[in-house]
Amino acid sequence: MEERKGFGSNFGFLMAAVGSAVGLGNIWGFPNKMGANGGFTFLVIYLILAACCGIIVMVGELALGRKTGRGAVGAYRVLSKKFKWLGWLGILSAFLILFFYCALGGYCIKYVVLNVGDLFGAGFGSNGLNGAEVFGAFMGNQMEAVIYGLIFVLLTMIIVMGGIGGGIEKVCSVGMPALFVILLICIVRACTLPGAVDGLKYMFVPGWALENGVIKEAPDFLTVLSTAGGQMFFSLSLGMGAMITYGSYLHKKENIEKNALLIVIMDTLVALMAGLCVIPGRFALDPTGSLGGPSLLFVTMQNVFHKMPLGALFGILFYLLVVFAAISSSISLLEVIVAHFCDKARDAGKGDKRKTYSLIAAVFVGLGCILICLDSLGGAGISPFNILGIEKDVNGNLPMWCDCWLDFFDCISEGILMPLGALLMCLCIGWELGPKMVDDECCLEGQSFKMKGFFNICVKFITPLCMLLVLYGQIREFFF
Ligand code: PHE
Ligand code: NA
Repeated sequence: MEERKGFGSNFGFLMAAVGSAVGLGNIWGFPNKMGANGGFTFLVIYLILAACCGIIVMVGELALGRKTGRGAVGAYRVLSKKFKWLGWLGILSAFLILFFYCALGGYCIKYVVLNVGDLFGAGFGSNGLNGAEVFGAFMGNQMEAVIYGLIFVLLTMIIVMGGIGGGIEKVCSVGMPALFVILLICIVRACTLPGAVDGLKYMFVPGWALENGVIKEAPDFLTVLSTAGGQMFFSLSLGMGAMITYGSYLHKKENIEKNALLIVIMDTLVALMAGLCVIPGRFALDPTGSLGGPSLLFVTMQNVFHKMPLGALFGILFYLLVVFAAISSSISLLEVIVAHFCDKARDAGKGDKRKTYSLIAAVFVGLGCILICLDSLGGAGISPFNILGIEKDVNGNLPMWCDCWLDFFDCISEGILMPLGALLMCLCIGWELGPKMVDDECCLEGQSFKMKGFFNICVKFITPLCMLLVLYGQIREFFF
């Protein structure tokens, strides 16, 4: 039987896993949610949740994967009677997230090209136009959005075709350190702008956003808790099998506990650093601009670069950074799907057929990506609310799940499937298999599992309870 090839080094594994975690969620989700939900207080709650849910689920997923040496579907099928099917939930989430991730990754490539145009005055840039005009023109040209989206799908597919050691590990080992350096450059630039200090206050000072009219109402505690929990889940790539899949390629001699801790710490660090890069720029140069979501990236930030000396150059660096972040996440998403089918083919003695399965999966992802691009973030009259005939309320608002296809796929995956997946994983490990299975896997080849006692209590009681709260909070926010 053909050998199942894994990561060549622990560094390579770590960069790939951090690459999966670090993504659009860090850049447009975390800083804004932190500012709008109590600044430093939010950070403390986030860190507590990361410790008693994030690290727990991370260790659990890595252990499930490594113990079985199988992707998400195979891991649950081998180990569990009650949750045999749970891996399929992960494959579904992976497709839904990929649909919008690739569309947005494509937009980022377009913005790199635009800023290159500006730098060289080549005429295909955005000089003279404000961010809203640039983005409006791009959104009005759906074919262009489709092409960029498909370029992103193609890049993702090519890397995954290269395999774990040959594709994913190589790209992330170079891309992640590069991302870090670019991020540092952008932070220095943003924080030295006059007026940048308001951005820091927005992010860190509790209550500042409310006192200064950036938000209208103080969020209640449950909202803060579930916003922090939901953000943490998505941000750490948990609850959908990505870490099971990467864990399955990790060498038995490596320490699961240490790696899990490092992934969580680095993802949180990059989220904070991304905040130091985008939020001060917004407060300094585009004081009424959007603080989160796609319009932060594609309208506010473009305004910031327009107004900045040498803005095109920083624009190129910044959007390149976002492309790196997005692609290292999208390859982990595609790998969740591809790994399963490769495992199956290999077990049947047919070789792993990685290239074929990567291609087939990419075709389906491409179709979803095309839908998102044609929809133009809800501007083209083909969104779920158009199709279902759902009316706007008196303020012109819609429930988030139906306002555009991007939000529809996001609400189902991030809102329901991921917290549900994590909840069921805890039940599976805590109550069906028993936490000892994780302990055994963490203690191979002379390693130790120092937080064993903490892990056992969390995985049985605390983490599932938090997951229920997050699930409730997100359903309330996204669907009503
Ligand atoms: N963690 C990524 C982000 O923050 C998103 C992601 C989710 C990637 C699930 C892979 C799996 O953007
Ligand atoms: Na993240």
